[in-house]
Amino acid sequence: MPKLIVVTREGEEREIEGEVGLSVMEVIRDAGIDEILALCGGCCSCATCHVHVDPAFADRLPKMSEDENDLLDSSADRDAGSRLSCQIQFTSALDGLKVRIAEED
Ligand code: FES
Repeated sequence: MPKLIVVTREGEEREIEGEVGLSVMEVIRDAGIDEILALCGGCCSCATCHVHVDPAFADRLPKMSEDENDLLDSSADRDAGSRLSCQIQFTSALDGLKVRIAEED
């Protein structure tokens, strides 16, 4: 299974295996990392699954929708690598993807 590297808010780096077909949010949640609240369950309406994606992977990610962009605008921690992890489908092309969990808003 492809690997996902997650940096927690404490700065701890964890390497986890992700099932292809799940979203990055689901992979993180299923690994027992509880910093991702994912309150809306992945339907792009809460922004509690905000992560910062390593710039090396930027061009491999699905395009951001207008809804995702608007939701990220409400976060004080937004930067150029910000994405909602529920909107990124985990695939083998993303093997080694590194994301850092954003600060809580
Ligand atoms: S889980 Fe709510 S926007 Fe991603």
